[in-house]
Amino acid sequence: MKDKRDGQKSGRRGWLVGGVLFLVWLSTVVAEPAALLPEVEFCLDCHSDQELDLTLPSGERLSLFVDGESFARSVHGEKLHCVDCHSDIADYPHPEREFKDLREFTLAYYESCKGCHFDNYTRTLDSVHYLVLSQGDINAPLCVDCHGAHDVVSPDVPRSRISRTCSRCHQAIYQQYARSVHGKALLEGGNGDVPVCTDCHRSHAIEDPRTATFHLRTPALCAGCHADRELMARYGLSTNVLQTYLRDFHGMTASLYQRERITPKNFTAVCTDCHGVHNILPVRDPQSTVIKANLVRVCQKCHPEATENFPAAWLSHYDPSPQRAALVYYVKLFYQVFIPFVVLGLGLQILLHIWRVVVNR
Ligand code: HEC
Ligand code: HEC
Ligand code: HEC
Ligand code: HEC
Ligand code: HEC
Ligand code: HEC
Ligand code: HEC
Ligand code: HEC
Ligand code: HEC
Repeated sequence: MKDKRDGQKSGRRGWLVGGVLFLVWLSTVVAEPAALLPEVEFCLDCHSDQELDLTLPSGERLSLFVDGESFARSVHGEKLHCVDCHSDIADYPHPEREFKDLREFTLAYYESCKGCHFDNYTRTLDSVHYLVLSQGDINAPLCVDCHGAHDVVSPDVPRSRISRTCSRCHQAIYQQYARSVHGKALLEGGNGDVPVCTDCHRSHAIEDPRTATFHLRTPALCAGCHADRELMARYGLSTNVLQTYLRDFHGMTASLYQRERITPKNFTAVCTDCHGVHNILPVRDPQSTVIKANLVRVCQKCHPEATENFPAAWLSHYDPSPQRAALVYYVKLFYQVFIPFVVLGLGLQILLHIWRVVVNR
């Protein structure tokens, strides 16, 4: 959108025209800060009346009041006329239109955003929300359900606004999220490093998160932050979690499926199968799914025969060390010393043989 003003100016005349336009713009700004455009005042002559309303055939009441002040404060307030969105209404009386109920009214108008925000509009066409809408679920969110119509504000200021927007319809998930290590850090501590709903789901092209493709992409999603050294150093968290996962049987299987584009019948474990999804807790929290006392229950979801010592046989995110999995560590160390030693010995023996052959001749 912003690029449209660019271009076309060339040479001195361009500068002159630009200068004059700048002065005109400056004078309007200085004279009337954030004033409504005159065409807007015309519409508001009637629509600032709080009593003005319509009763729809469904019996629902549609208030026709538009709050001029909140419109002026909105992102569109200084730039848009009412008719930019209500392009079918220029004057009064308005053209005759019939709306059965409130939702039909919203459905009729929401596409007015499309004209200027075409890229976001097309993104929504690929979303689960649009899918359920096209299947007849008229409660699926439209632009105005998330952004409003006359009171549109920057949707990510403050950052917590994003998740609150989703919470209007996904209340149960929001409650889980708000108590998780991620949600708590943002909502209670104002920490912007943690993910909000749209970091994992996007805001417009939201896809179904329960597919095999999404599941297999989860490690990369978490690793976007959890393999970032600078970010994780602030919290004293290990960035080794991705590499150790990928070296583990689950991780190897997951990357194989992804590489070969196989859709598995049995899901292998990804980060969220062990840590939870919207309810992830610090790993030392007594309620955490991955704390020793709870871990076997996580394994049992997919390994029903697992007993108490089953998790103990697994290295978790650790590389073998003298403290952890000492046997594995020393066997590995032994091979690391032993194999080069044997290879060196072999090489030496061959050299000695050659030398002998040469000398004996
Ligand atoms: C003289 C008063 C008056 C003016 C000026 C006016 N309206 Fe209305 N508007 C109404 C009334 C009354 C209704 C109720 C339905 C009707 O009578 O058409 C209405 C209904 C509406 C509706 C909802 C119903 C529909 O037909 O979609 C919209 C949207 C609307 N007006 C927008 C505007 C815009 C935009 C302007 C400025 C260009 C404007 N109005 C100017 C009185 C007015
Ligand atoms: C950014 C686009 C946009 C602009 C600018 C805009 N409208 Fe609307 N308007 C809409 C949409 C979308 C709806 C339907 C909202 C809904 O159903 O929740 C709507 C609904 C209405 C309604 C029906 C009552 C309501 O609030 O739902 C009236 C009346 C109305 N607009 C008048 C105006 C007037 C007057 C202005 C100028 C001050 C204006 N609009 C500016 C998009 C816009
Ligand atoms: C006539 C063109 C036009 C229409 C129609 C329009 N917008 Fe906008 N919109 C703009 C402009 C211009 C901006 C300001 C861009 C800027 O300041 O960078 C904007 C900004 C926004 C922003 C804030 C972007 C940000 O990063 O803060 C949102 C959200 C938004 N519009 C939503 C909507 C919705 C929802 C509708 C439909 C109800 C709509 N717009 C209809 C022109 C339009
Ligand atoms: C399910 C809620 C939801 C719906 C539906 C939705 N948006 Fe958004 N939109 C958001 C959120 C949340 C953000 C900010 C977060 C972000 O940037 O990821 C955003 C950001 C934006 C922005 C500013 C940033 C950008 O990408 O340019 C614009 C403009 C916008 N939306 C327009 C629209 C339009 C037009 C529609 C309808 C076609 C729409 N949105 C539908 C939630 C929604
Ligand atoms: C106006 C209500 C509304 C808002 C706001 C909303 N959603 Fe939805 N969402 C729905 C409906 C309805 C469905 C369809 C499935 C259902 O009924 O749960 C859905 C489905 C989903 C799904 C697919 C999973 C499923 O159950 O099918 C995801 C993921 C999702 N929404 C994420 C989000 C995110 C992220 C936001 C915020 C940016 C958001 N939603 C905002 C109503 C909403
Ligand atoms: C850290 C990443 C992440 C964040 C943050 C996140 N989600 Fe999810 N979400 C996922 C994953 C992964 C799944 C798939 C879970 C599964 O395998 O069933 C999912 C599933 C969903 C589903 C569909 C399945 C269900 O449980 O009903 C909805 C709806 C949803 N998320 C909404 C939200 C909302 C709303 C927020 C913000 C409050 C949010 N998510 C925050 C990663 C995330
Ligand atoms: C099979 C289960 C399992 C899987 C899969 C798994 N984790 Fe873990 N994770 C654990 C356990 C158990 C711990 C606790 C280790 C300990 O005792 O310190 C842990 C610890 C962590 C920690 C805390 C590290 C620290 O420095 O304290 C983070 C962060 C983490 N995992 C992220 C991830 C990410 C990201 C993925 C996916 C790439 C993942 N985990 C996959 C079980 C798992
Ligand atoms: C946008 C970045 C981001 C994304 C994406 C993200 N996280 Fe986090 N995560 C963080 C930050 C930052 C913290 C530290 C928060 C704190 O301690 O206040 C954290 C904390 C954690 C912890 C707690 C570690 C501990 O013991 O303190 C776990 C477990 C975790 N995340 C797992 C995951 C999993 C699993 C995913 C993917 C589904 C994921 N995270 C996605 C940024 C992210
Ligand atoms: C979401 C399901 C799921 C969860 C949860 C899960 N696994 Fe697995 N696991 C699998 C699948 C499927 C395989 C076989 C294919 C593969 O290697 O990924 C497997 C393979 C294994 C193997 C390799 C040997 C064998 O039995 O095939 C071990 C060891 C293992 N898992 C340990 C664990 C431990 C320990 C936990 C709990 C911390 C756990 N798993 C949690 C799905 C899961």
